[in-house]
Amino acid sequence: MVRVSHSFLLLSLLSLAVEVLGTDKYTRDDFPPGFVFGSGTSAYQVEGAANEDGRTPSIWDTYAHAGYANGDTGDVACDGYHKYKEDVQLMVDTGLDAYRFSISWSRLIPNGRGPVNPKGLQYYNNLIDELIGQGIQPHVTLQNYDLPQALEDEYGGWLNRKIVKDFTAYADVCFREFGDRVSYWTTVNEPNVFAIGGYDLGIAPPKYCSPPFGLNCSRGNSSSEPYIAVHYLLLAHASTARLYRKRYQGKQHGFIGVSVYAYGFVPLTNSMEDVSATQRAQDFIIGCVAHPLVFGDYPSIMKKNVGSRLPAFTDHESELVKGSTDFLAVIHYITFSIKDNSGSLEFKQRDFNMDMAAKIIIERDNSSEGLLKPWGLQGVLEYFKQVYGNPPIYIYENGLGQRNPGNSSLEDTSRVEYLQAYIGSLLNAVRNGSNARGYFQWSFLDVFELLDGYGSNYGMYYVDHHDPDLKRYPKLSAHWYSHFLKGGSINSTQVMKLEKITSVTSVSTLNSV
Ligand SMILES: *[C@@H]1O[C@H](CO)[C@@H](O)[C@H](O)[C@H]1NC(C)=O
Ligand SMILES: *[C@@H]1O[C@H](CO)[C@@H](O)[C@H](O)[C@H]1NC(C)=O
Ligand SMILES: *[C@@H]1O[C@H](CO)[C@@H](O)[C@H](O)[C@H]1NC(C)=O
Ligand SMILES: *[C@@H]1O[C@H](CO)[C@@H](O)[C@H](O)[C@H]1NC(C)=O
Ligand SMILES: *[C@@H]1O[C@H](CO)[C@@H](O)[C@H](O)[C@H]1NC(C)=O
Ligand SMILES: *[C@@H]1O[C@H](CO)[C@@H](O)[C@H](O)[C@H]1NC(C)=O
Repeated sequence: MVRVSHSFLLLSLLSLAVEVLGTDKYTRDDFPPGFVFGSGTSAYQVEGAANEDGRTPSIWDTYAHAGYANGDTGDVACDGYHKYKEDVQLMVDTGLDAYRFSISWSRLIPNGRGPVNPKGLQYYNNLIDELIGQGIQPHVTLQNYDLPQALEDEYGGWLNRKIVKDFTAYADVCFREFGDRVSYWTTVNEPNVFAIGGYDLGIAPPKYCSPPFGLNCSRGNSSSEPYIAVHYLLLAHASTARLYRKRYQGKQHGFIGVSVYAYGFVPLTNSMEDVSATQRAQDFIIGCVAHPLVFGDYPSIMKKNVGSRLPAFTDHESELVKGSTDFLAVIHYITFSIKDNSGSLEFKQRDFNMDMAAKIIIERDNSSEGLLKPWGLQGVLEYFKQVYGNPPIYIYENGLGQRNPGNSSLEDTSRVEYLQAYIGSLLNAVRNGSNARGYFQWSFLDVFELLDGYGSNYGMYYVDHHDPDLKRYPKLSAHWYSHFLKGGSINSTQVMKLEKITSVTSVSTLNSV
């Protein structure tokens, strides 16, 4: 079969890559005791059962149903709502310490505020109990792109200050109902990328943007609304953290954090211009979230370049936001080069990118782009160490996306290389003093992806969407991660052996489906 020569080629590439990267000699014992390894998903991406048991649509449902995610939706997704027990068993088999998932606000509180849906409550109680019963630590995100559509319709969701109160009340329900068993809470997922994608470029829910910045914009203001959204996301986080600390932390002994999407950035050239553009990119993209959390205000370059379009913190808000996080959750996939774009500041009408005055250079490697710069993860962790006082960090997402290659996706050799290289880079950072405490591969299963639905995949487990039972199959990466988690030392020889096992699995079990 074609597959044989294909995997032979991959094998030769693999041994090459492993040698070049030089990260093939570590085990999990090289990480500090208590360092947590897990994997993650989010509610709309995995649960399905979108119209079942009282759940109402979120802005992500609306976005997907308008056809923006490759025409796919999360209506069924991986049917995690019904298959959670099977999935938790897979986590046990894989050897995960922890699982990161999110709660669907509109499943728990269908109108966004008011009565709790007993069936939603039951589902999350079941999932959490199943995880705890199997010895897997739950890490819960409260808001992952899926704001209840009811609140969007009522007052414009994240563009209205009312969201702060409603979000805090929703979080209160979660702490009260689940906080006896959940110790790791993340308020909002990647506010920076959510704001840029959803309110500037218009490529993510709720798809607000204004010409000429976004694609096919029908509503929004790319010059001001990304900043307004970030502002209320930060205030909602801070208000929720205050509630948790005041009312729950003393007895529940958990931790509350927020996640930040962090690209690695390096200057395209050594010119002064590119070097300071790189600092601006860090200040805008990472700093718009991290700076207020640590210092109580936006970076000064943001205040200067954005001017009156950037909401200002009152003294009270600044105090509320400053120090409002027990840990930072870092999402990192890739490193880009940065080129100066100061000329953009001469334009009167600007969006986030133009205010940043830096160009992100997207270099396309032909195989898998993330593989180019695994050291970027160490760079990001060094940045948090040196600029933001080395807070406790959980890497909540890291992984390799591939266009869906059908059956052959079980042999995800480049994902194995990616994980091996990035976990090696993480180890280097930890050895050099980073306060990283855990690592969560994205994603556990092939889930419904934000931009292209089922057209791409990040999973360690393939989900057969042609099968009415949505059967899961381990990819090579699942075997690799499992081997690593169970204490194995990983080297190219072993990956080859794993690949043989997986090929056999894929041929025998898939053909019998
Ligand atoms: C552009 O927007 C219109 C109106 O909302 C919609 O009908 C059309 O499908 C959109 N096109 C694209 C490419 O998103
Ligand atoms: C966007 O908001 C800014 C600041 O409020 C305003 O000056 C600008 O005219 C608005 N742009 C659009 C396209 O509505
Ligand atoms: C990627 O492909 C393009 C043409 O398809 C080729 O010109 C280029 O050299 C390739 N780059 C690498 C890094 O292989
Ligand atoms: C694999 O591909 C074959 C032929 O395209 C298809 O019939 C089968 O359903 C696929 N199996 C899986 C598990 O996707
Ligand atoms: C290791 O940490 C030191 C002290 O923070 C720093 O100066 C150095 O650049 C770091 N090394 C690397 C490779 O990042
Ligand atoms: C890889 O691991 C196997 C099994 O532990 C060992 O026999 C082999 O020598 C290792 N290869 C290298 C290159 O370290």
